[in-house]
Amino acid sequence: MPKLTENHLFQLSIISILLIKTTGTDFLHYSCDTDGNYTTNSTYRKNLDITLSTLPATTNGFGFFNSSTGRGTDRVNSAALCRGDLEPALCRSCLNDSVVRLREVCPNQKGAVGYYDECWLRYSNKTILGNTGEDDGVFLRNTQNASDPDGFSRATRLLLNELRDDAAAGGSLRKFASGNTTGPATINGLVQCTPDLSGPKCSDCLDKAIRGFFVQFGGHIGGRILQTACNFRYEVYRFFNGSTLVVSPPPISAATPPVSSATEGTIMVLQIYHVFF
Ligand SMILES: *[C@@H]1O[C@H](CO)[C@@H](O)[C@H](O)[C@H]1NC(C)=O
Ligand SMILES: *[C@@H]1O[C@H](CO)[C@@H](O)[C@H](O)[C@H]1NC(C)=O
Ligand SMILES: *[C@@H]1O[C@H](CO)[C@@H](O)[C@H](O)[C@H]1NC(C)=O
Ligand SMILES: *[C@@H]1O[C@H](CO)[C@@H](O)[C@H](O)[C@H]1NC(C)=O
Ligand SMILES: *[C@@H]1O[C@H](CO)[C@@H](O)[C@H](O)[C@H]1NC(C)=O
Ligand SMILES: *[C@@H]1O[C@H](CO)[C@@H](O)[C@H](O)[C@H]1NC(C)=O
Ligand SMILES: *[C@@H]1O[C@H](CO)[C@@H](O)[C@H](O)[C@H]1NC(C)=O
Ligand SMILES: *[C@@H]1O[C@H](CO)[C@@H](O)[C@H](O)[C@H]1NC(C)=O
Repeated sequence: MPKLTENHLFQLSIISILLIKTTGTDFLHYSCDTDGNYTTNSTYRKNLDITLSTLPATTNGFGFFNSSTGRGTDRVNSAALCRGDLEPALCRSCLNDSVVRLREVCPNQKGAVGYYDECWLRYSNKTILGNTGEDDGVFLRNTQNASDPDGFSRATRLLLNELRDDAAAGGSLRKFASGNTTGPATINGLVQCTPDLSGPKCSDCLDKAIRGFFVQFGGHIGGRILQTACNFRYEVYRFFNGSTLVVSPPPISAATPPVSSATEGTIMVLQIYHVFF
């Protein structure tokens, strides 16, 4: 495997520093496509209305949704994915909120993507599934560093890599894994791919995302990537439900002081970076 350098896989550019609450009704991040708008009475608009109204009914039973409407240049593709541990009722409500909110913030753009903690929604006139490489990722990180950044990073990467393997092996309906490890702190992690990706593609997508993050931000006590094809998140607090994988910590030389834990609901300063694969 070639050695990763900062510029090898990723070009990073700081977009903005945001204050984000971990609870609330606004997207963590959203983006409206800049390459095309539709007009009020267009066929595209009608197709978009139809596809978004049918989307919630297309669930595969595991929080994945996929709907397309129309033909040729008026074809609208849409997809949504709920976090793998989410209860169906919460998933439906997250998707419903996303549909309403994304149309509000991107009122006439042909394509848009919006990310909540619990789900994302994307629509476009382009193909959006299958990890086409057109999927910009956005890194978020907690600005607080672990007191032992190297030990913390090592433990986190080990956890995420095991979760990656677990998720990639998850089958065609659900590619999700969550778990924890005890390193310099208890670290909770979660990874997910859209289930249409093959195992190797899922693994590859997560691998790039995880490497890219740690090249730049290893040692921070929380981090994640917002991206449709695959995503990961880790925190020093538990932020998901359900059964989890317990990963043994890597051998660490000496006992290291614990990190002070951020708690859910506190305001974290997050920095948004765009990742171009
Ligand atoms: C999507 O819309 C843009 C802007 O109208 C257009 O340039 C592009 O060719 C369209 N792509 C497809 C696949 O129709
Ligand atoms: C699309 O509409 C937005 C405003 O909603 C505008 O800022 C943008 O310039 C338009 N883009 C094109 C390609 O017309
Ligand atoms: C859209 O259609 C409605 C009803 O057919 C019409 O009243 C309206 O003027 C049209 N709007 C535009 C921008 O063409
Ligand atoms: C999306 O849904 C259509 C049916 O509406 C299906 O034929 C297609 O395979 C689905 N694509 C993916 C990637 O799941
Ligand atoms: C987690 O489980 C609790 C208890 O069953 C439930 O109240 C809560 O809504 C669940 N959260 C998610 C994100 O599914
Ligand atoms: C979806 O959201 C709309 C607008 O907020 C609301 O009127 C509708 O009842 C919601 N539907 C579901 C199934 O939650
Ligand atoms: C975290 O570590 C980085 C790199 O060592 C440093 O630039 C940054 O200022 C530190 N942040 C805090 C909040 O201490
Ligand atoms: C780690 O996960 C296991 C299995 O779900 C759970 O029993 C344990 O309480 C978790 N540890 C922490 C510190 O959350």
